[in-house]
Amino acid sequence: MLLGRQLLRTASRGSRASVVPQALTRSIATAPPIEFAQRHVSKGLARLSEDVIERAEGSWVTFRGGRTVLDFTCGIGVTNLGHCHPKVSKAAAEQCLNLVHGQCGIAYHEPYLRLIERLLTIVPHASLDSFFFANSGSEAVEAALKMARGITRKQNIVAMQGAFHGRTFGAMAVTKSKTVYADGSSPLMPGVVTSPFPYWHHFNSAPGADDAELVRASLYQLELLLLQQSAPSDTAAVIVEPVLGEGGYVPAPPAFLQGLRDICDKNGLLLIIDEVQSGFGRTGRMFNIQYSGVRPDLLIMAKGLANGFPLSAVVSPKDLTDKLKPGTMVRLPSTPIEVADAFQEERILENVNARSAELFEALWALKADPTVGPHILDVRGQGLMVAVEFASPAHSQFDPAVQKKTPPSMSMRVSKRCLEKGLLLLTTSIYETVRFIPALNISPEDLGKGIGIFKEAVEEVIHEA
Ligand SMILES: Cc1ncc(COP(=O)(O)O)c(C=O)c1O
Repeated sequence: MLLGRQLLRTASRGSRASVVPQALTRSIATAPPIEFAQRHVSKGLARLSEDVIERAEGSWVTFRGGRTVLDFTCGIGVTNLGHCHPKVSKAAAEQCLNLVHGQCGIAYHEPYLRLIERLLTIVPHASLDSFFFANSGSEAVEAALKMARGITRKQNIVAMQGAFHGRTFGAMAVTKSKTVYADGSSPLMPGVVTSPFPYWHHFNSAPGADDAELVRASLYQLELLLLQQSAPSDTAAVIVEPVLGEGGYVPAPPAFLQGLRDICDKNGLLLIIDEVQSGFGRTGRMFNIQYSGVRPDLLIMAKGLANGFPLSAVVSPKDLTDKLKPGTMVRLPSTPIEVADAFQEERILENVNARSAELFEALWALKADPTVGPHILDVRGQGLMVAVEFASPAHSQFDPAVQKKTPPSMSMRVSKRCLEKGLLLLTTSIYETVRFIPALNISPEDLGKGIGIFKEAVEEVIHEA
């Protein structure tokens, strides 16, 4: 092992030795796993920790060497029922012994139909009854965009400022949360126009800005967009996350989603609701769109749908999908997993709402603390999709919200300090924001432990500044 490390060091100094360490790093038996990973895993992937996960169960993750940490990331909102939920993992194992690749371009298959049967009982609107399955959130977004164009025979798509929809070409084109996601990838899919989401930052305002005013201003801009940039006759759809995810965990006020529905109806546009991150109980209802009562034309789901197995879906009314020609959609195998049962048996939504109240109470108390409070701009979110935005000086001299006295880069520093103390906690957005995405069945004790670590980390970062 020592020899491997020495050779790697030599290799970074001169070209002659580079052949030798390459051979050594080809096996995790001869190179330390982290060096092996840094050598062979694409640099295009970013990560919170450079450690290696060995196993995970429920709300806990064990790193190589046995270090166990509390997971408030859930694989970015994927393992909603905790890691390796016994019912879900057992269903997957049994399915693997029965039918792995039931190519839906060959025939229907039973697990696929049973999954639809189950999902029909939880979709947020009775009109949503025609399903298309894929593997990832991005793929489902691609499918929804293609369906919207195919159904309407129109091209343009309206995306929201701050939106994240994925990293494939269509999904990347409607992603407006950070430019890095499309770095070096242009030209992107054409025909995308952007309208503001009612987040106070987007209007150069400050936390506490009146929701009704933000909604009015956002909808007004969308109306202008349809008059000035993309005529309704050229516009296929509006795509929106009901809670901005990578854009900062900002819930849309119900009036905004209702306003979008009206504008879409008046102008013949489809409304695509992306619940990849906010769906499956994450915000306290099965789907976030239920809070507004808005009917989606196309609803995208993934992540919590299969609790870590690759599965995503687009569901829409049958009269819309009947306009698609057979063969236009990709036909991929899916891995139908029964997550919905666990929601009822384990009263998951009750737990989400109870733990959410505890989390908000603790974060509001932190914001009320005279030492810490001035450095916290905002505590927001819904259910267990919760964010704290710090007041660190950010990227713009014109931002009225930030505090010059707040330590720089607080979100990243707090996240790192949490990891040192045994808590996985992610940042999000271009603003100084950390996000809490614990398992939906997290116990009060584990939630309390995580909150305790977070508080300590925040206090330490403030004092070390
Ligand atoms: C709202 C939203 N849509 C789409 C995606 C893309 O999903 P995937 O990473 O599975 O491709 C994500 C991923 O974080 C997401 O949060």
